[in-house]
Amino acid sequence: MLLQNKVALVTAGGSGMGKAGAERFAEQGAFVYVVDRDESATQSVVEGIREKGGEAAGIVADVRDLEALQGIAQRVEKEHGVLHVLYNNVGIPGAAGMDLSSEDWDALIEINARASFYLTHYLTEVLKAADGASVIFKSSSSGLVGSPFSPLYSFTKGGLIALVRSLALAFAADKIRVNAIAPGSVDTPGLSGFFRASPEEVEERKKAFFAQIPLGRASQPEEIANVALFLASGLSSYVTGITVPVDGGLTAK
Ligand SMILES: NC(=O)c1ccc[n+]([C@@H]2O[C@H](COP(=O)([O-])OP(=O)(O)OC[C@H]3O[C@@H](n4cnc5c(N)ncnc54)[C@H](O)[C@@H]3O)[C@@H](O)[C@H]2O)c1
Repeated sequence: MLLQNKVALVTAGGSGMGKAGAERFAEQGAFVYVVDRDESATQSVVEGIREKGGEAAGIVADVRDLEALQGIAQRVEKEHGVLHVLYNNVGIPGAAGMDLSSEDWDALIEINARASFYLTHYLTEVLKAADGASVIFKSSSSGLVGSPFSPLYSFTKGGLIALVRSLALAFAADKIRVNAIAPGSVDTPGLSGFFRASPEEVEERKKAFFAQIPLGRASQPEEIANVALFLASGLSSYVTGITVPVDGGLTAK
């Protein structure tokens, strides 16, 4: 097993790619903290992991709340004293277009960028204690190429790519590797939110968008979890400061 006796934490672990990542890490032997603001989703992921013989604990928190993030770091320190894998997966599509309120702007910056920055900062000591930790940020193909419908989303996801390079350099001496995953379209409950349309129109738009993807389909959350596992484990021991596109060839065009 690739993560035997390791401790991992996954934000937005209650759904989609976070859930798949938490399950994959646990199946590979890690104790996994599942962080999400949705209590029943968090509980259900934790129970699912335990039913399969894995180890997990749920933490219900809104990542916009910096005190809650500090509390998470204190809990990890108290219960394990070490964190080997931090999967900063949280993010939302947020408001589209240019006609944005300052609340829209703040929400997207706080959830998509600020939360992962501060959580990493608050967890630095336990990450150092791992003597070879891995931090994974969740960017997007919209951070690599332009996204006409969601410039603000694109801005937050592109910012994470720059952040990852800088943190990789800042943390290299502490043997903390820092990388990002940039998915294209992933078949999660959150996917429809990116199409900004009525439920009937969403299906049409999805079909048209998937047809442009060289591999001709959206990915499954488990295909992203496999890349997260690679970055989380010793298989990627010499990889730091990069963003891995996992997009079926979308950004290769
Ligand atoms: N789905 C895609 O096609 C796609 C593509 C590229 C990147 N992404 C990114 O991948 C990540 C996961 O996306 P997904 O589609 O798997 O998500 P999802 O919509 O399936 O799940 C999102 C989870 O985040 C939780 N959440 C939202 N706001 C929160 C907050 N403030 N505090 C705590 N928890 C919160 C929700 O409760 C939910 O469980 C996000 O960063 C997203 O931007 C998604």
